[in-house]
Amino acid sequence: MTEKHQELLEEARRLLTDADTERDVEEVRVRFLGRKGEVAALFKQVPQLPPEKRPEAGRAANELKQQLTTMVEQAAEEVAASRKQESARRPDPTLPGIRPPRGSIHPIVQVMDELVDIFRELGFEAVSGPEVETDWHNFEALNIPPDHPARDEWDTFYVTDRLLLRPQTSPCQVRVMEKRKPPLRIVAPGRCFRRDTEDPTHFSMFHQIEGLMVDEEVNFGDLKAVLHMSLRRLFHQDLEVRFEPDYFPFTEPSAQLHCTCVNCGGEGCRTCSYSGWIELLGCGMVDPNVFKAVGYDTERWTGFAFGMGIDRIAMLKYGIPDGRLFFQGDVRFLRQF
Ligand code: DAH
Repeated sequence: MTEKHQELLEEARRLLTDADTERDVEEVRVRFLGRKGEVAALFKQVPQLPPEKRPEAGRAANELKQQLTTMVEQAAEEVAASRKQESARRPDPTLPGIRPPRGSIHPIVQVMDELVDIFRELGFEAVSGPEVETDWHNFEALNIPPDHPARDEWDTFYVTDRLLLRPQTSPCQVRVMEKRKPPLRIVAPGRCFRRDTEDPTHFSMFHQIEGLMVDEEVNFGDLKAVLHMSLRRLFHQDLEVRFEPDYFPFTEPSAQLHCTCVNCGGEGCRTCSYSGWIELLGCGMVDPNVFKAVGYDTERWTGFAFGMGIDRIAMLKYGIPDGRLFFQGDVRFLRQF
């Protein structure tokens, strides 16, 4: 290979390395391999050489042509590949968008929100309290001293001797009363925890909504009116309520509220064990000892309180036989709400 050939090869290699587009590569091809290109010129010189040099010159020119052709083809492929890569990186604005999966509000939260809305219309403000509670707020201030047998009613998870996972939303009553003076009307929805063995109606994590009204001359009739109205709104039914005497340390008198079975309207069915009534919540008039614990004047203020299980209400409202479905996170179930 002559020096001239070497130079041509070097020059072509340099130009091809700089080539960014197919057009650049084509320019190089024309310059070296085109009809009036460098290689064509070499071939044209062959017949002018002395006869003994012609075969060698022809062979060398052919070899150069081969080498240049390979280089140009390779460069053309590389340019095409990098262009393809680039267009793959560039977003195509004409493609339809990717729809992000859309979640929905959990049925328990839906019922919770609905209850809060209903009570808000009756003048109750929604508040929240901590899920890790003190023994004082959950028990002592609620008239349940240490070692009182009533503590057994709440199968409580303890974090330390004085800290626990709240087994009820009732401590929210105490927290609000410690901070504010009457009159007050609050509801406190939230998560609760108990050492329960799980079954279709018992969960170690569940939800309650607590209600408290304190004012001058609040009486049991007010409690009945508030609960009766709100339950009718919640179930969209003309249901009746009745009270059965019960015991809670923080209310006196205490009652269990029953309402007409929302499944059968009182005729009797499996949901109400054929009684026509279902137990819905605990309630009563605030025990003066609770007022004393928060420093309220027991001569002046009276109040009522109630606490209901939201999960059970959601089961009744949506006709769900096994409440564990609420907490398994199965989207096939949750998508229905
Ligand atoms: N905290 C009670 C429970 O978990 C329910 C309850 C009963 C709440 C009576 C109240 C009440 O506020 O007055 O079983």
